[in-house]
Amino acid sequence: MSQFDARLKETAESVNVALDALLPRPQGPEARLVEAMRYAALGAGKRLRPFFTIEAGRIFDADEGHLLRAACAIECVHTYSLIHDDLPCMDDDDLRRGRPTLHRAFDEATALLAGDALQTFAFEALADPATHPDPQMRCLLITGLAKASGAVGMVAGQVADMAGQEIGSDLIAVTRMNRLKTGALINFSVDAGAFIGCASEAEKTALSRYAHDVGLAFQMVDDILDAEGAVRDTGKAVGKDKDRGKANFVTVLGVEATRERVGMLAAQAKRHLALFGPRARVLLDAVDFVVQRRH
Ligand code: IPE
Ligand code: IPE
Ligand code: MG
Ligand code: MG
Ligand code: MG
Repeated sequence: MSQFDARLKETAESVNVALDALLPRPQGPEARLVEAMRYAALGAGKRLRPFFTIEAGRIFDADEGHLLRAACAIECVHTYSLIHDDLPCMDDDDLRRGRPTLHRAFDEATALLAGDALQTFAFEALADPATHPDPQMRCLLITGLAKASGAVGMVAGQVADMAGQEIGSDLIAVTRMNRLKTGALINFSVDAGAFIGCASEAEKTALSRYAHDVGLAFQMVDDILDAEGAVRDTGKAVGKDKDRGKANFVTVLGVEATRERVGMLAAQAKRHLALFGPRARVLLDAVDFVVQRRH
């Protein structure tokens, strides 16, 4: 295992432990709902968004406990987005993170509601003074996560995605969709680490530009994996987008041209980190991970 893989694994493990401790325990009349929340949140995700928050914050020696809580909140929003994304009214998928999707393992209403509850739980966690002693910082994080995941962020991207046939082969519309549905939350993941680390304006800008490029590249690779990945690696069905008439980078440009663009974005992302010198080693390696990933 490479040094980077070991580091990502280590973060995933601490996120799993922290999420397990943070999430409510299944008991009383809502036990089934809480079991569903835990099933989805404690599944085998890569925990890449938490990784970005933690590693961006580490550049500035930010408090690990604060970073971990913010990272868990972001992962809860990401998990909620996956639960809803898989519902029959959206992508109608049966497999996620190598096991049945939440609505398959439980039922549709429970999945919908567990997604809702994970989303609000994320904001509750951010609002808690344990996330940061400074209420202004907590407000900044709450507002940032709300914007990145709501009607001007992830949800806007999901709306565009569902209108796939209307997008057709419009590359600008596909870029915007990917930026929003996936890029926005990845962007905030990095930004949150910079906020908590009290980065300077120049440092925040550089990290945000990095995250912009990485976030877009990440979804482009997701589109490539949908076209030519393997279920045993991705833990989710493949070939879905084309079958459902969805527009994505690969349906518009093909795999080769998409890969080329991923390479350009990756190089650009790395350049934004020049300011940090060797302190940005892990974030540099994260770019290669995003480009080369098979899951
Ligand atoms: C999947 O995200 C959905 C997209 C936004 C492309 P990830 O590939 O990060 O999924 P997990 O969290 O590792 O399962
Ligand atoms: C999902 O995009 C983006 C969000 C969940 C916000 P996809 O629909 O391409 O993700 P997968 O391929 O199902 O993971
Ligand atoms: Mg989708
Ligand atoms: Mg999907
Ligand atoms: Mg996909």
